[in-house]
Amino acid sequence: MKVLMIGGTGFISSNVVKLLVEEGHDVSLVTRGKSKIELFDKNKVQFAYGDRHDKEFLNKLANENNYDVLYDMIAYTADESQMVVEIFGGKVPRLIHTSTISVYMVSDVVRNPIKEEDDKYPLMKFWERNPFGMQYGIDKRKCEDVLWKAHNEGKFEVSMIRAPYVCGPHDPMKRDYFWIQRVLDGKPLLIPGSGDFASQHVFVEDLAKAFVDLLKYDETKGKAYNISSEEIFSLNDYLDALCTLLDKNPERVNVDLEVFEKLPFSMSLEGHAFPFNTYRTAIFSIDKAKKDLNFKSTTFEKWMPGTIDWYLNVYKKPSVGYGDRSKEVEFVEKWKKYKRELIYKVT
Ligand SMILES: NC(=O)c1ccc[n+]([C@@H]2O[C@H](COP(=O)([O-])OP(=O)(O)OC[C@H]3O[C@@H](n4cnc5c(N)ncnc54)[C@H](OP(=O)(O)O)[C@@H]3O)[C@@H](O)[C@H]2O)c1
Repeated sequence: MKVLMIGGTGFISSNVVKLLVEEGHDVSLVTRGKSKIELFDKNKVQFAYGDRHDKEFLNKLANENNYDVLYDMIAYTADESQMVVEIFGGKVPRLIHTSTISVYMVSDVVRNPIKEEDDKYPLMKFWERNPFGMQYGIDKRKCEDVLWKAHNEGKFEVSMIRAPYVCGPHDPMKRDYFWIQRVLDGKPLLIPGSGDFASQHVFVEDLAKAFVDLLKYDETKGKAYNISSEEIFSLNDYLDALCTLLDKNPERVNVDLEVFEKLPFSMSLEGHAFPFNTYRTAIFSIDKAKKDLNFKSTTFEKWMPGTIDWYLNVYKKPSVGYGDRSKEVEFVEKWKKYKRELIYKVT
């Protein structure tokens, strides 16, 4: 198929391109030429350098080519999706949109397991610290609305993938590395709250396969799919599995969420601090993807060693907030002392 992708050299998209190329598709990429994750043979794709917000540039691409499918890997706002509809609607028969489980996680209501049709529950009160991104989830819902409308008006046939935390080598959020580096230093781990709320991750290569497999099955047109691992992890389960792989077992200290949230290092400008810490259990049904796409996920035990290796031997920089690690440890020691004294006082 003749494929146009907006994106293609970032974390998720480069894995999708790799598979598209391997499967013999004719692939063109729209990028600004800044990102350089090239997991594929550069000579086997065409690069159209430009900004996705440049209407003239995209119009030219749409008018001068007969693409069979457009992958939009990086629409974050309704305006961005609307522009895609205006430029490519009626010209490209199929659009594949990259969405997120955050469209559910901004809801007041979460009914587990969360199915694809649970995407319209009323929004919760605006919550700045929503670990799944409050404004991000709201905006991604709006992208979806614009695209479903276009689908219903016959502008193109839309499919969407909603992913949870995406993990693996090259993750720009470096979420796994946050914990890998802390487990490896052997000092106590600060666990926000109980660490018991469960959720799912997805390995980037499994996600990429689902994106490419959408092209193989006509019944996927007009549908959204949750694509996540079959394994369900709480933060505690995740750390159990990670500690086993790393052959380390540092002390874990639970800190009350209200206290944790006031700690200056509980948020970081560098990115996602204390990832996989959730405030409620959210489990995503992948029955639809299993049925329509024959989706299967790689186990944590299989994908994590390569990811650890990439962080330690290729990435090699500090993880998010690691500059404040000594403050984390200092706080943990104070918290333990406080808890001990409290127990002493009440007994
Ligand atoms: N990471 C997660 O855990 C997660 C979870 C759920 C959903 N998602 C979704 O996944 C998508 C992001 O994935 P990703 O971070 O791995 O990135 P990505 O899909 O790989 O996209 C980055 C690519 O887009 C290009 N790009 C960025 N801004 C551009 C612009 N203005 N014009 C043209 N090209 C541009 C980049 O190249 P240049 O920089 O060279 O332009 C790069 O090729 C988003 O839709 C997000 O909502 C992510």
